Amino acid sequence: MIASAETYTVFDPQASTIGRTDRVTLEITTRCNLKCVMCPHGLPEGLPGQSDASDMLIGEVIRYFDKTRILQPTGVGEPLLSAGFWKIVDALAGRTNPMLMFVTNGILLTKPNVERLTQAPLFQVNVSLDAARPDTHLRIRGNDLAKSLAGVRNLTDMRARTGADFLIRFAFVIMRENVEEAPAFVEMAHSLGANAVYFEHMVTLVTDPKAWNVKRGNWLFNYAENELRGDAAASDPWILKAMDRADALGIRIDGSGILLEPGLEALQDSRPCRLDPGARVSFEERTRRIGLSVSEAAKGAPDVA
Ligand SMILES: C[S@@+](CC[C@H](N)C(=O)[O-])C[C@H]1O[C@@H](n2cnc3c(N)ncnc32)[C@H](O)[C@@H]1O
Ligand code: SF4
Repeated sequence: MIASAETYTVFDPQASTIGRTDRVTLEITTRCNLKCVMCPHGLPEGLPGQSDASDMLIGEVIRYFDKTRILQPTGVGEPLLSAGFWKIVDALAGRTNPMLMFVTNGILLTKPNVERLTQAPLFQVNVSLDAARPDTHLRIRGNDLAKSLAGVRNLTDMRARTGADFLIRFAFVIMRENVEEAPAFVEMAHSLGANAVYFEHMVTLVTDPKAWNVKRGNWLFNYAENELRGDAAASDPWILKAMDRADALGIRIDGSGILLEPGLEALQDSRPCRLDPGARVSFEERTRRIGLSVSEAAKGAPDVA
């Protein structure tokens, strides 16, 4: 677990020199305004040593704008809380590169913040929601779903108004608690104007997930019990239904190795699809399918999962 913004790998380790960097990922903050049950912030002791990326680091990232195609502020925290994120956004004003992508819980996608984002060349905004039902979202994320969806609406309104062509993707961490909502999640994403949905299993963050317990009202979340990696019978039917809905609605599904996870290989055999690396379509093709013409700067960008 990365506890300090300063210790994270700032520049793409694949790039042999800074001059050839395509994609820059930096941990912009480890502070957050939520305490989701599956995240270290949700643990009773919280995430230790929370911090923001330093001004010096932000300055370095800005200095290398010309060498960067995709800039991805990320980390175990909420990017929109950090002053550094907004410094980067302001510094991107009037530029076509690097293109910005980030993941947010959506709460701070307020109208003024979304207006401020119009300055930057946006590539993709990922909104983590994890549920289609407000009660499930509240249990998992401790948040009012309506707040995050209001943020999504601010974003789609801005996109329609400005003609910007960035992608909006909803993210869903698969758990026993929410898996049955996967098909409805795709429908919700489609109805709200998202272009894609991202499903991923919980990653094993600790050596003993059985000891990870978070109490939410009458509900006790246990990490091991909620992990569906390896429980194909519990997860496959819902993920398959979600894929069917996505195909019918023309929305893209991305996943973090879903088909390769133990217990989910069955999907790969029975149904090659966009999540199967062997059947992956090109970035341009995927973008064409969802009806967006991304700007020239993003064409040929690395596969941004
Ligand atoms: C750590 S969050 C940081 C960004 C922002 N706070 C958010 O929630 O979108 C980045 C992504 O990791 C996901 N995530 C959180 N805990 C996870 C876990 N235990 N396993 C896999 N993904 C997780 C979140 O749902 C989110 O999509
Ligand atoms: S909003 Fe993101 S960083 Fe914050 S607790 Fe939830 S998953 Fe963790």
